[in-house]
Amino acid sequence: MKKVALVTGASGYLGGRLCRALLHHGYSVKAFVRKTSDVSSLPPPSDAGDDGGGSLQLVYGDVTDYPSLLEAFSGCHVVFHAAALVEPWLPDPSRFTSVNVGGLRNVLKAYKETGTIEKIIYTSSFFALGSTDGYIADETQVHPAKHFCTEYEKSKAVSDKIALDAAAEGVPIVPVYPGVIYGPGKVTTGNMVAQLLVERFSGWMPGYVGQEQGFSFCHIDDVVQGHIAALAKGQNGERYLLTGENASFKDVFDIAAEISQTSKPWFKIPLFLVDAYGWICVLFSRITGKLPLISPPTVDVLRHQWAYSCEKAKKELDYNPRSLREGLSEMVPWLKSLGLIKY
Ligand SMILES: NC(=O)c1ccc[n+]([C@@H]2O[C@H](COP(=O)([O-])OP(=O)(O)OC[C@H]3O[C@@H](n4cnc5c(N)ncnc54)[C@H](OP(=O)(O)O)[C@@H]3O)[C@@H](O)[C@H]2O)c1
Repeated sequence: MKKVALVTGASGYLGGRLCRALLHHGYSVKAFVRKTSDVSSLPPPSDAGDDGGGSLQLVYGDVTDYPSLLEAFSGCHVVFHAAALVEPWLPDPSRFTSVNVGGLRNVLKAYKETGTIEKIIYTSSFFALGSTDGYIADETQVHPAKHFCTEYEKSKAVSDKIALDAAAEGVPIVPVYPGVIYGPGKVTTGNMVAQLLVERFSGWMPGYVGQEQGFSFCHIDDVVQGHIAALAKGQNGERYLLTGENASFKDVFDIAAEISQTSKPWFKIPLFLVDAYGWICVLFSRITGKLPLISPPTVDVLRHQWAYSCEKAKKELDYNPRSLREGLSEMVPWLKSLGLIKY
């Protein structure tokens, strides 16, 4: 019998790609989406194919609506909980708690009530571990919880503790911590690198932003494989960083310029100017209702270093992240093929 995997956040950047990979691995996938979700990036719902591939079923609900989640759990063997609000800023910050923290609590409650789930892979984030100013962190780092750049970071740190406490109580949950995910896929807020490259190539972002060695960049397909490997090999309650090359947005822009044979930016935009721009974007957002790409919390994130080691995932999960150059060599022409950038 085929294993049935429930994927929350299936309409998102990571979730959509994960659904496709699980189908490829022969799973029957229940894609948990909202009535309002754009499901265009998901394959059409299907029955199991003759090629050994799995089937996809859309199930509707909301992670904050416990009955809908409980119903979706029915008949599932494993759960990938990837749903979250990934925005750096929202006009109502309490939504981060209700969706990101409340959603995980509901997943754990549904696990207990269902009694058939063998394993939960919970998509946490590097933000849950906290910043790493001047050093490279590994899974032993616990968020000091003294300062949070964003409400999103806070919600992921709070959820991390909930996941680890649940594991200590015997829930078979494996938290995984991607870095900054980039690569082809739906261009949502989660696909920040795609959005920044679009801004860069359109001329809206003429200079460099952020500092050297700012982030750990991981390709979407490596992160997806890391999730599937965590299901097969991850130890319950063990944390696995699914990060990649520690680099800066300057590196991203420089490599993208080399790949596209376009000119590199020749100056760095001071963070106080990005901050001012962020305030304007937030003001604009309050008027139009459209969420801003840059906001003051984003600038706070840019003031810190977020560099991590994924040695543990490499050893225990055979995680094999590609280099930033290799990943961007695929991503930049992909953005061009969609008409999102021109060069
Ligand atoms: N992208 C990154 O760089 C990154 C890095 C580290 C960790 N992560 C984690 O990876 C996971 C996936 O992120 P992503 O980049 O794929 O973000 P995304 O593209 O914004 O996807 C988020 C998904 O969550 C769903 N969702 C939001 N609120 C929901 C609710 N109340 N009920 C049910 N579903 C809800 C969204 O549904 P709709 O389509 O209906 O909005 C969407 O499918 C998140 O847990 C995030 O914290 C992402």
